[in-house]
Amino acid sequence: MADLECDFLIVGSGIAALRAAIELADDGQTVVLTKGGAEQGSTAFAQGGIAAAVGDADSPELHAADTLAAGDGLCRPDAVRVLTTLGPRYVRELIDWGARFDRETDGRIALAREAAHSVRRVLHARDATGREISRLLWQRVSALTRVRVIEHALAVDAVVADGRCTGARYLDGQGRQGVASAAATLLATGGAGQLFRETTNPPVATGDGIAIAYRAGARMADLEFVQFHPTALDVDGAPRFLLSEALRGEGAVLVNEAGVRFMQHADPAGDLAPRDRVARAIAREAERSGGRVYLTLEDLPPDFVQTRFPTIAAACARAGLDLARDRIPVGPAAHYLMGGVDVDLDGRTSLSGLFAAGEVACSGVHGANRLASNSLLEGLVFGAVAGVAMRRWAAENGRPVPSPGSGARASVQPERASGPTESEVRDLMWRDVGLFRDGPRLARARDTLGEWEAALEPAVSDPDAARLTSLVTVGCLMARAALRREESRGAHYRSDFPERNDIDWARHVTESRNGETGIDAGRTGPIRH
Ligand code: FAD
Ligand code: SIN
Repeated sequence: MADLECDFLIVGSGIAALRAAIELADDGQTVVLTKGGAEQGSTAFAQGGIAAAVGDADSPELHAADTLAAGDGLCRPDAVRVLTTLGPRYVRELIDWGARFDRETDGRIALAREAAHSVRRVLHARDATGREISRLLWQRVSALTRVRVIEHALAVDAVVADGRCTGARYLDGQGRQGVASAAATLLATGGAGQLFRETTNPPVATGDGIAIAYRAGARMADLEFVQFHPTALDVDGAPRFLLSEALRGEGAVLVNEAGVRFMQHADPAGDLAPRDRVARAIAREAERSGGRVYLTLEDLPPDFVQTRFPTIAAACARAGLDLARDRIPVGPAAHYLMGGVDVDLDGRTSLSGLFAAGEVACSGVHGANRLASNSLLEGLVFGAVAGVAMRRWAAENGRPVPSPGSGARASVQPERASGPTESEVRDLMWRDVGLFRDGPRLARARDTLGEWEAALEPAVSDPDAARLTSLVTVGCLMARAALRREESRGAHYRSDFPERNDIDWARHVTESRNGETGIDAGRTGPIRH
């Protein structure tokens, strides 16, 4: 494929990417590279909804307080303020553009309750909110004449020249290599759930943006914080389909093999405790009882269940289960990555010209644990904010001189004969870097992943190798970060350090390839270039 030149390069096509593309529509030529079909990221699969303080009983301050509480002492308060203050504006904009969120009979927007939210604040389109948002954003992006979307284009590395990111190398659908040069580049590549054997994430969620940014020298933060959703469908041979927290928000409860509720005894907040606590309680109950754990909706009217949760009901039906009547076997699965490429309030990474937004980024809004339905909001708000900052950056710095195929490749790995299989990586991560962690297992994972990393083939010419490289690189970073944090906080649980320790660990674990590894207490303002 030919090399490309543009003003703005966006890698990914989820909510963060599309909202950024819309923001940049009038400011130059934008190219969007996405490695699969247009809607293959997590955004289109989002179920429960998007949180924003639009209700009468709500306020950005209350939303911020809930977000900070869920984040377990590690959120960046200034980033949370941006999220919750700008959230209503950008969500209302979606409504003005035609988003079909559910409404009450009197026409007001219907707001759902989810765990750790103190009021109803989750806008939703039945149980397929992401599909509706994706439909709307794609409709708008398709009408933009200066935005070109290239599907099946896999970004493999950032191009870096003189300390500035000037675009990305990519492979097209035929495996041919190209360079896309741009004044400003945005990574919006989503999460990394595919690192784990059990995950709710789609196949594209392999952490590519993190691996790309790391190899290019950008700084990572908080990578030890992986959110495990408590209720993925747990049927042999069926995908780990998400059973939205909104089910429990509407009255579904967890029971054990004997049909007995256990969350009231496991946690003061019961079935609506924060996700990490519910996920661990489920795993403990399964181990204690030797049986499975189930979600039951038997106290809800079946008509309501079918109308409110048609997508989930259909997935259960495919697995031979009736959502309204049967007990549905559930278990935890990797769902969301709180950490990522470290960004400031404008979405700027520590590498000039490179921006990141959405799940790939660590803006600090989620801290150690994300509040339900805050991720779509983060992508929406910080996608737009990054677009504004990219426009400014491009105006100040101009387009780089393109150097087709010759820009310094950020990483060249030695060619070796063999590496791990993808399922070996996923099994190891699930076992040793999963829901329950301890020093010896993390150290073993770090060492094994380190050996695997050294054995990887160069990623640049082969999509399968690129995928494996991303998994191993991000797995290494995650295991190292998790080993360093000797406490338990939010989603990171160390059985050898079971308490939260604010004296030593109210800090961020950071790492960059340029030799900087840190325990960073001072990450409160914009990153200076
Ligand atoms: P994504 O939407 O994941 O998009 C990433 C894009 O990058 C994809 O298009 C992918 O193909 C592309 N890409 C990746 N690597 C490359 C590469 N190397 N080259 C080119 N393209 C690449 N959050 C909520 O707030 N509310 C919910 O109700 C909710 N429900 C969820 C349900 C499920 C099943 C899942 C998996 C997640 C859910 N989440 C929810 C989380 C939320 O959906 C995601 O965090 C969010 O959509 C991420 O958006 P994004 O734009 O950052 O990335
Ligand atoms: C869910 O619907 O439970 C997922 C919501 C989220 O990830 O925020």
